[in-house]
Amino acid sequence: MAILEGKAPGFPPPAEAEQMIEQALGDYGNYVNESMARLYRFMGFTTLEWTARGATITDIQGQEFIDCGSYGVFFHGHNHPRVVEAVKEQLDRMALSGRTLPHKPVADLGRMLAERTPGDLQYTFFCNSGAEAVEGALKLARAYKKKPGFISTEGAFHGKTFGALSASGRELYRKPFYPLVPGFTHVPYGDADAIARAIDEDTAAVILEPIQGENGVIVPPDDYLPRVRRICDEKGVLLILDEVQTGMGRTGKLWAFEHWGIVPDILTMAKALGGGVMPIGAFMSTPEIFSVFDENPYIHSSTFGANQLACSAGIAALRAIEEEGLLEQATRKGERILTTLRSLARDYPDVIRQVRGKGLLIGIELVNEGASGLMISELIDRKVIVIHSLNNPRVIRISPPAVITEAQIDHVLDAVAAGVARAHELGAELA
Ligand SMILES: Cc1ncc(COP(=O)(O)O)c(C=O)c1O
Repeated sequence: MAILEGKAPGFPPPAEAEQMIEQALGDYGNYVNESMARLYRFMGFTTLEWTARGATITDIQGQEFIDCGSYGVFFHGHNHPRVVEAVKEQLDRMALSGRTLPHKPVADLGRMLAERTPGDLQYTFFCNSGAEAVEGALKLARAYKKKPGFISTEGAFHGKTFGALSASGRELYRKPFYPLVPGFTHVPYGDADAIARAIDEDTAAVILEPIQGENGVIVPPDDYLPRVRRICDEKGVLLILDEVQTGMGRTGKLWAFEHWGIVPDILTMAKALGGGVMPIGAFMSTPEIFSVFDENPYIHSSTFGANQLACSAGIAALRAIEEEGLLEQATRKGERILTTLRSLARDYPDVIRQVRGKGLLIGIELVNEGASGLMISELIDRKVIVIHSLNNPRVIRISPPAVITEAQIDHVLDAVAAGVARAHELGAELA
């Protein structure tokens, strides 16, 4: 069965490819990160990414992998032709902003986001990553409310810069960098009453992921976000929704909060905003809240943020979502994957504790954490790339592009079933 999309030209001869792999892994070990290099070798990832298209990554030796990992960046697939074309066209004219004169792509993208976002969300600040978007959102909330406090949630992942890390909820990543930014209180995710109790007169904002991605795809109870919205309104604090992972279509809607009919005061995004071609992040808010930037527009700034290449990618990414029906595809394909995986979970209760998700953000929670590494390498052997969640390694995340084909989905589901059967065979050894 032809499940993959064919490789591009430009592959080195096999002996040269092997030498390049060895050299690169050696250089990783010596110059990038030694333990990362060890991990690649341990997991059997002794190759190099070389080309990519759609859901397929082709390595330097011409082996093709279906990409269901990549931290959720590739909602549009790899090298989406219209995003690549838009970026190339912009590149030929002017790559980065001189920052003294205005340019058109940022104005266009700002308008397009405002037109596609409900409520009063209107102004956008563009930066380069998810963590930067979160930093900006936190700063905006503090400046507007003139209060220092934030309520966040246990298990949350908001990035690894100081502010974003302070909002995040896994000690493994936080502890080595203490003291973090003061003013953050963490409460259990999914418990609106805990948020109500934690808010005090110093609280500026509540920051939440609509679905916790890195904590293992935790979908909250249906009344959670509407209740949190009400609590924030009643208590006069802002609601920041971090849609860096869930945003731009991943859950089958442009913004995950649309599943629950609420609107945040501040919205963060990144990952899929760049169409899988350019790094870009952003935070949006209302004219009223953004007015704190009016007095001095340089109070928060970024040299590379809002550059023409990234904004051109964002414009093409939004158009592709609409013109190619990517939201509908994410919903339909996600339901198919979820249904099959849930039936697999019923067959193997000793291996799979739960399958959950929305759209193409799907998590398989394993009974034994030890099965996680086994599953990842079993799937790699079958040419399917998945990753576990950063804050919950017991959960394997399946987040393929919306353009994944039905035949590729068949292959992924067969590979997962084979991996689960193997974990079942090994049983107690993985506990
Ligand atoms: C919800 C959320 N916020 C923020 C981030 C940080 O984004 P970045 O890695 O681009 O800094 C991530 C990354 O996975 C994320 O999932």
